Amino acid sequence: MVIFLIGVVRITAKADEKKIIRIETDNISLIYGTNKDGRLYQTYLGQRLHHDSDAVHLPLMGEACLTHGMEDYFEPAVRILHNDGNPSLLLKYVSHEIRQLQPDVNETVIRLRDDVYPVEVQLCYVSYVKENIIKAYTEISHREKKAVTLYRYDSSLLHVMGEKYYLTEFSGDWAREVNMTEQPLAFGKKILDTKLGSRANMFCSPFFLLSLDKVAEENSGEILFGTIAWTGNFHFTFEINQQNQLRILSGINPYASEYSLAPDEIFRTPEFIFTYSTEGKGKASRDFHRWARKYQLKDGEKPRLTLLNNWETTAFNFNEEKLATIMDEAVKLGVDMFLLDDGWFGNKHPRNSDKQGLGDWEVTTAKLPNGIEKLVQEASKREIKFGLWIEPEMVNPRSELYEQHKDWVIRFPNRKEYYFRNQMVLDLSNPKVQDFVFGIVDNLMRKYPDIAYFKWDCNSPITNIYSPYLKDKQSHLYIEHVRGLYNILERVKQKYPDVPMMLCSGGGGRSDYKALSYFTEFWPSDNTDAVERIFIQWGYGHFFPSKTLAAHVTSWGKQPVKFRTDVAMMGKLGFDIRMNEMNLKEQEYCRNAVKNFKRLEYVIGEGDMYRLISPYRSNHAAVMYVSENKKTSVLFAFDIHPRYGERIYPLRLEGLNPNKIYKIKEINLLPDTKSILACNEQTYSGEYLMKVGLTVFSSAHTVSKIIEISQNDIE
Ligand code: DGJ
Repeated sequence: MVIFLIGVVRITAKADEKKIIRIETDNISLIYGTNKDGRLYQTYLGQRLHHDSDAVHLPLMGEACLTHGMEDYFEPAVRILHNDGNPSLLLKYVSHEIRQLQPDVNETVIRLRDDVYPVEVQLCYVSYVKENIIKAYTEISHREKKAVTLYRYDSSLLHVMGEKYYLTEFSGDWAREVNMTEQPLAFGKKILDTKLGSRANMFCSPFFLLSLDKVAEENSGEILFGTIAWTGNFHFTFEINQQNQLRILSGINPYASEYSLAPDEIFRTPEFIFTYSTEGKGKASRDFHRWARKYQLKDGEKPRLTLLNNWETTAFNFNEEKLATIMDEAVKLGVDMFLLDDGWFGNKHPRNSDKQGLGDWEVTTAKLPNGIEKLVQEASKREIKFGLWIEPEMVNPRSELYEQHKDWVIRFPNRKEYYFRNQMVLDLSNPKVQDFVFGIVDNLMRKYPDIAYFKWDCNSPITNIYSPYLKDKQSHLYIEHVRGLYNILERVKQKYPDVPMMLCSGGGGRSDYKALSYFTEFWPSDNTDAVERIFIQWGYGHFFPSKTLAAHVTSWGKQPVKFRTDVAMMGKLGFDIRMNEMNLKEQEYCRNAVKNFKRLEYVIGEGDMYRLISPYRSNHAAVMYVSENKKTSVLFAFDIHPRYGERIYPLRLEGLNPNKIYKIKEINLLPDTKSILACNEQTYSGEYLMKVGLTVFSSAHTVSKIIEISQNDIE
């Protein structure tokens, strides 16, 4: 039976009628079908199948939403305890609806219901046709008399069938984020998860790559890219059964988080976002980048602000005079903004170190007697913008906030407190605390409407996990805390839609796509050593477009200024360095680099990215960005630590038009130096550049080159 609503196709079940539900993009099909038992099965995930009639031949891969207590002996996606003590759930197909949300964006909602208990599960999918991205999330609700308990509530369950499976994870620690490690999966389970609460991604990022049959390659092979849009505890569980079938379960980490769901309340999971490429990793990344810019990121299609930050050069030790000098340097550099970091607030407990003051968001008068106002004015006098660091979700026990509002802090009432970076986490499950945190931004903006940017930090995981507000619902804390954070961020976005913000969490402790719907960029790592950054930006670049990766030139690494700046230019360029540490030529070089970045931002920030040479597989690295019309491209080539006598091979480019002629020009050269590249100022066809390539690497250490490749008007 088919019922047409306005703009919606609704299909409901009729006994014995087999339903086929196709969730599709230009290149992917995810297909479900009902069976005689009335239950819903995944029948396909892979390269797009174009002939509708074929779908009936597809074998059943596994139930679409596996539950606990029935016939399956592996990990379920939903586990529920009814209030009569019965732990079973069996879901049958009821109906599904397909609607177009906007051109090339479709939503499919499949309703499943238990025959015995009044429990309903909706499997929801949003497909982005051109970008080949699918979002999956689940809604669970019931009409039992009393609350039921959810023990498992995954966003997505995907069945994958291959001969072999290779999983790439992105894990690490502070200052060594997103190390990529690939491993084959065998029978049993591999779990990637976090229990950190806030700063959730400090050890493990919320994304993975799953390559089928062979290790992941850039330009060939079937590969699934998945990520969870949740700024808290998540899990990805990969389980291979006795028949070598893989299931991937993704969702909130249910650890210590059983959830009591009231009748008629809807438990909506976060979105699991994935793509499936049959042309390797490169295509999957480009699809993710395009989708993110168009649909997910805050201000996804707008340019970003270049900036000079003061954290690496002053830490907490600054005054008005010093900041004014740094602002002068921002002007010399030609960046858009000066960003004042940590250390500007607190009076009873001035924030002169990370031991105190967090929570007391009044300017330290001893340090900045004329307040933020004066700094905003100084910036505006110099025609640059002013940005400000905040860490609004946290509190130092040595602060007035803690003295007055212990009840707002996540802490045990009866135990000695344990601190991470001398601080604690505010209880965002409490609406009053949400008001307080929103108020920090709101008060600052109301007092100083010219603040043009916030860097929003979050340095501590949740410690001492007890919410004074949630009382007997402690197991809701990890979830309600994140929901509370989203309430705050939503209010900020609604009231201050034009204020860009950087997501920071002691480096890359937060890097998920839900948070990035509120933030224009994120801080990938406190480690700004340029060699380390090549790896770090390489890792994040698998999922995030370069405009989201804040990359600052600092003095962490001892490489030449040019090398450090060229690496930062692959992301969203910024500086955190004193000009007076550089000689005049280096200063001029940096000014010029800022100009080049601004001129080419539409290619680096908006273009398609091609990873050409992996630092994981060689002593060099190369990435290029190509504008949408393929007229301009920017190539970044780095010699990291080549071996003595190593042979240098030509680098083949990608993404160009083979039939057009391109001119090669090395840019970002130090003043008074000339390019030593034989190809500089030469012209080549796109075909030559992609089939033969250019010699751009050398055997020297930490040498970088940026090459602009533009279509020649005179052909
Ligand atoms: C951690 C951040 O990652 C740094 O960039 C800096 O803002 C410090 N916090 C300030 O405390």
